[in-house]
Amino acid sequence: MLIRVPSASRCSSADITPESVYLSRRRFMAASGAGLALGALPGVAFAQDVSPYEVPVPAEQPTWFTEKLPGVQWRAVVPVDEAITPFEDATHYNNFYEFGPDKGDPAEHADAMDIEPWTVQIDGAVEKPGTYSVADLVQPHRLEERIYRLRCVEAWSMVIPWLGFPLGELIRRAGPTGGAKYVAFETAVLPEVMPAVDSRFSLIDWPYREGLRIDEAMHPLTILAVGMYGRILEEQNGAPMRLVVPWKYGFKSIKSIVRLSLVEEQPYTTWQNLAPEEYGFYANVNPNVDHPRWTQARERRLPANLFSTNVRDTLMFNGYADEVASLYQGMDLAKFY
Ligand code: MTE
Repeated sequence: MLIRVPSASRCSSADITPESVYLSRRRFMAASGAGLALGALPGVAFAQDVSPYEVPVPAEQPTWFTEKLPGVQWRAVVPVDEAITPFEDATHYNNFYEFGPDKGDPAEHADAMDIEPWTVQIDGAVEKPGTYSVADLVQPHRLEERIYRLRCVEAWSMVIPWLGFPLGELIRRAGPTGGAKYVAFETAVLPEVMPAVDSRFSLIDWPYREGLRIDEAMHPLTILAVGMYGRILEEQNGAPMRLVVPWKYGFKSIKSIVRLSLVEEQPYTTWQNLAPEEYGFYANVNPNVDHPRWTQARERRLPANLFSTNVRDTLMFNGYADEVASLYQGMDLAKFY
């Protein structure tokens, strides 16, 4: 993200249509009786070692996660009517700069991260500050599957089935007080497993930090994800808990969160601080406002390759305009990019 647009040849998969994923999804839907409509599908049976997407499930998944699976609300929110990105691409073409600058670095290094147990500090303008285990944070919530487009500012995109719960529910439980105008997030800094956080050559002032306005954080589309493809989140995708804000460029969706603060002022955010003329605080997906060095009007849907670039038009607010455009009424989106 710093200085380059990724080239098509860096993608690993050759196929445009992720047929196996599509088929297994259809099989899953048939087996579970799911239609495309909104609605709950409790009690989906799980094979022991594969998820409903027929992707491998780790031998050990934490009980705080597995005990939630029978109650998952599958396909909560109208799903994207586009092919789901193969699991292999979603887990091997990543940005997680703490583990290195290349797309393959996170998959190579991140499983050295010890995510169990994991705690998240909640502080600032809340009635119930404290340090909570992920298990405790997830426990009161029903997990929902959200199949969202993910549009990176680098102009590639994917469609990923996340498992999580609305961030707004957690904020409500923490009891925001009058000063809660923004939410600030921080990622773990683990020098023993994250090569970049100790590097003298890194341009980023760690921890990786992100932020949202409180109404964006409370929006029902904004989730904290703990799983993907019907199984636990992979480390390279931000285990054990990450943010997913589908109408914003991917860099807002901060991974492996250890701190969440409700604050009065617009918080420091990593990319805005590094290159404010290139990356804004809002970072709403907007085909009409180009990055200074490339167009944002189009995107490469992964997997893609030199022969099939799989380029498509980028949608305003990444296709979620009906749900979120009102949050920005009256704002000049070219100025507040
Ligand atoms: N979170 C942290 N802590 N570090 C990062 O480097 N990269 C961001 C975001 N969250 C990043 C991060 C960017 S640029 C993108 S596009 C998404 O994660 C990518 O998420 P994915 O690898 O799960 O597709």
